[in-house]
Amino acid sequence: MHKMLDVTEQRQRKRRPRREALHRLIENDLIRRVSDDEYRRKVKRVYGGPKGAMLAACSMVSLHMPLGERLFRTRKFDLTGARSILDVGSGAGQIARHLLKYADQDAKVTCIDLSHQMLRRARNRLKSTGPDFVAADLACLPFADESFDCITCGYVLEHLPDPKPGLAEMARVLTKGGRMLLLTTEDSFSGAWTSRLWYCRTYNRKELMRLCESVGLRCKQELWFTKMHKAMRAGGICFEIEKT
Ligand SMILES: C[S@@+](CC[C@H](N)C(=O)[O-])C[C@H]1O[C@@H](n2cnc3c(N)ncnc32)[C@H](O)[C@@H]1O
Repeated sequence: MHKMLDVTEQRQRKRRPRREALHRLIENDLIRRVSDDEYRRKVKRVYGGPKGAMLAACSMVSLHMPLGERLFRTRKFDLTGARSILDVGSGAGQIARHLLKYADQDAKVTCIDLSHQMLRRARNRLKSTGPDFVAADLACLPFADESFDCITCGYVLEHLPDPKPGLAEMARVLTKGGRMLLLTTEDSFSGAWTSRLWYCRTYNRKELMRLCESVGLRCKQELWFTKMHKAMRAGGICFEIEKT
């Protein structure tokens, strides 16, 4: 049995470099090629334009929206007791909608996004007076230390040329013991295509975990949308994180 496992592992190891080379070939490398300011302008243009207008529809088609809702509905990521929730890079309000549905009635939700157009779209889609909408960059959050006891950050970190300042900012505004749901595009075949479509980068789990730890955030557990996603290692990276 052990011998068989060894052989399988060896085969997988041999295949990995080829697979990684393929991912690198497909993956968009704009984030590494241009200056931070130029890249930031590109992100604003992409989300402010027709692609951004299609974001909510894309999240439905890719099933990220219903699968994301599942995490909250089944309490895999439990919002109970959270009083002040920050949704980073709220886009079309895909996650904010779940927050409004599953968080406690008295929880305050704040949505931030780099793109004014995306904030407007989120406001129109959510049709709720509840959340505050703030135009801001994840790398420089306009909030006092420890302002939030819960943060959700879905598919935004891959838009930072250097993720560390963004993670450090979220660690700063999170209360001690506060929790965060962090979703990112994974270094996989489908992730590489996503990166092509949205001009973002991808992560692998170990790298992301190390980055979190370097700013005082601990990965409490890895979450999966469904059992099938776990078995197939598909659906991107999804961490529940705690500020230690
Ligand atoms: C793929 S969408 C994610 C939408 C939603 N959070 C979700 O889970 O589906 C990425 C969003 O992050 C925003 N964004 C990109 N870079 C950002 C930054 N540095 N600071 C804040 N928001 C950013 C984009 O404008 C876009 O609305």
